Amino acid sequence: MNRNARDSIKRMVKRLATNSAFRPIGLPLLHAAQYVLSIHHREVVNFSQPHRAKTVERIRAIMTGFPTQTVGVDEAYLIRSAVLATAKLQGDIAEVGVFRGGTAKVICEAKGDRQLHLFDTFEGLPEPAAIDSAFQKGQYAGSLESVRDFLNGFSGVHFYKGYFPATGEAVKDRRFSFIHLDVDLYASTFQALQFFYLRMEPGAIVISHDYVDFPGVRKAFDEFFEDKPEPVIEMTGNQCLVTKLVPAAAV
Ligand SMILES: C[S@@+](CC[C@H](N)C(=O)[O-])C[C@H]1O[C@@H](n2cnc3c(N)ncnc32)[C@H](O)[C@@H]1O
Repeated sequence: MNRNARDSIKRMVKRLATNSAFRPIGLPLLHAAQYVLSIHHREVVNFSQPHRAKTVERIRAIMTGFPTQTVGVDEAYLIRSAVLATAKLQGDIAEVGVFRGGTAKVICEAKGDRQLHLFDTFEGLPEPAAIDSAFQKGQYAGSLESVRDFLNGFSGVHFYKGYFPATGEAVKDRRFSFIHLDVDLYASTFQALQFFYLRMEPGAIVISHDYVDFPGVRKAFDEFFEDKPEPVIEMTGNQCLVTKLVPAAAV
């Protein structure tokens, strides 16, 4: 399928999906189409190296328990790598955008004894702005209790139900070594960056989902980091990654 044909299908499905009459079936249809189209154009990432194979198997087992898979296995692998790499830093871990706890579980299995702070409305997305037209209010509503059950057995895990950054007040005095953002929307992403940037240790990493596919997330990152020294790196899947720099005077 050539690129024009693919883009026409995408536009048609998106029009259907965002038409209020079709919304209940339109959004699942949009996600299915995005998935199929992305598989068609996806390059194979080599996970056959022996040291990776077991981990990939485990991540796949976690992620395939979800009827709505929002993060790919390769993307979850990157999250795990960043959690492991930041173990040498001081500071806690936070995730904003938990839904059913898929990526939170991947983080739990790699975090060691670091504290993990999990933020979500657990009632789905807040009101999207015009730039977030692929999403609708209330999408990805989950249940705090079922995520608690899903992460049962991991210590140092803290849940905050409600709108972030209001719920961030509880951790305003903490420092962070790794942040995972998966909030889909412009305002949620921008506000999370405003909150965490000042609280990230030098060397701390923030990874966000949806930087590649959704313009609201890209705009939030590009705007926020425009006047800051840290480069925003677009990853090969649907994520971006930023590492907090050490101030030159401190090196
Ligand atoms: C795509 S889902 C997260 C998927 C999850 N990381 C996983 O592994 O499946 C997006 C989540 O972001 C949450 N969210 C978006 N904006 C938020 C905000 N400002 N405060 C709290 N939660 C928010 C929604 O409630 C939703 O559960």
